[in-house]
Amino acid sequence: MFNLESLVRENVLKMKPYSSARDEFKGTASIFIDANENSLGSLAGNNYNRYPDPHQRKLKEQIAAIKGMEPGQIFLGNGSDEAIDLLLRLLCRPGKDALLNLPPTYGMYEVSANLNEVRIDEVQLTPDFQIPVEQVLQAVKPETKLIFICSPNNPTGNSIQPESIEKILRNYNGMVVIDEAYIDFASTPSWTTRLKEFPNLVVLQTFSKAWGMAGLRLGLAFASEEIIAYLDKIKPPYNINEATQELALKALEQQEQLKFMVEEIVQERTLLEQTLPTLKQVLHVYPSDANFLLVKVTDANGLYKFLLDKGIVVRNRTTVPGCEGCLRISIGTLEENQELLNAITEFETQD
Ligand SMILES: Cc1ncc(COP(=O)(O)O)c(C=O)c1O
Repeated sequence: MFNLESLVRENVLKMKPYSSARDEFKGTASIFIDANENSLGSLAGNNYNRYPDPHQRKLKEQIAAIKGMEPGQIFLGNGSDEAIDLLLRLLCRPGKDALLNLPPTYGMYEVSANLNEVRIDEVQLTPDFQIPVEQVLQAVKPETKLIFICSPNNPTGNSIQPESIEKILRNYNGMVVIDEAYIDFASTPSWTTRLKEFPNLVVLQTFSKAWGMAGLRLGLAFASEEIIAYLDKIKPPYNINEATQELALKALEQQEQLKFMVEEIVQERTLLEQTLPTLKQVLHVYPSDANFLLVKVTDANGLYKFLLDKGIVVRNRTTVPGCEGCLRISIGTLEENQELLNAITEFETQD
């Protein structure tokens, strides 16, 4: 049986969260001299001399309305990277507990674990980048506090079969974190629709990909109100800055444009998926539900350097076990994709 209180670190259960000036005052007032701000104003304009809402109430209400959930089921982080780090710190005692990682996958689970002195147990994905479920369940130890599942997976691009995820959710009593950073580009539904069924489920999403707001740093975690309350308890009080909160609210009003952008990116992805395999250098293009393609080529290091010399930066993944010979290529604009194809063709026809 999943028992949240028995998973959460004792120091977190016992601690008192930071109480901000804006937490302690409720009501209306005209003079705010409670938070050591600059009362004269801000050189950056707007109301930026004031601390932002630590609870991001307006933003959470808007997101909740769009997603059809309660504001209390939403945590907002300074990027989803912050949510990854806080989940680790919420559950894992340094030097004692572990997480289960399923490589090849997003690198920050490992980085955060190393930073927090949390042991990393690994089960490699299958050659078609799916989860070997029985192996995963067998790898679970008493100290395994959470499993990270990235779907669609980075750097491979594929979605993880929902049956595999469901089996893990049902048979593992720790926390299952499904990172859906690329869900807007996928045809599979989000696991947010099934939060009520699984008290051990946390779903991560981000404004950095489809929403085009990587520079503003805004990530989301969706889970039961109990889990979210713990994340809120341990987060830095003002983790989402005022400009980000304002701009995200504006972006949320433009859902139609989001749809158009996603459609265009998926269309470009399809075009690249069809064209790349016609090039001699390209051995395989892995199926993608994301805004990038994992591409196996005959000479990953050579092509990577050649593209760099042309001013085209892709991600060389050839040293990642399971991704030997692969480059990860984000979907660019129509023109950028054409330049990429031209450059690969040029690489092939060199002396
Ligand atoms: C799978 C995955 N999760 C999370 C992130 C980080 O997102 P954010 O910009 O919200 O921190 C990335 C960024 O590349 C990613 O690929």
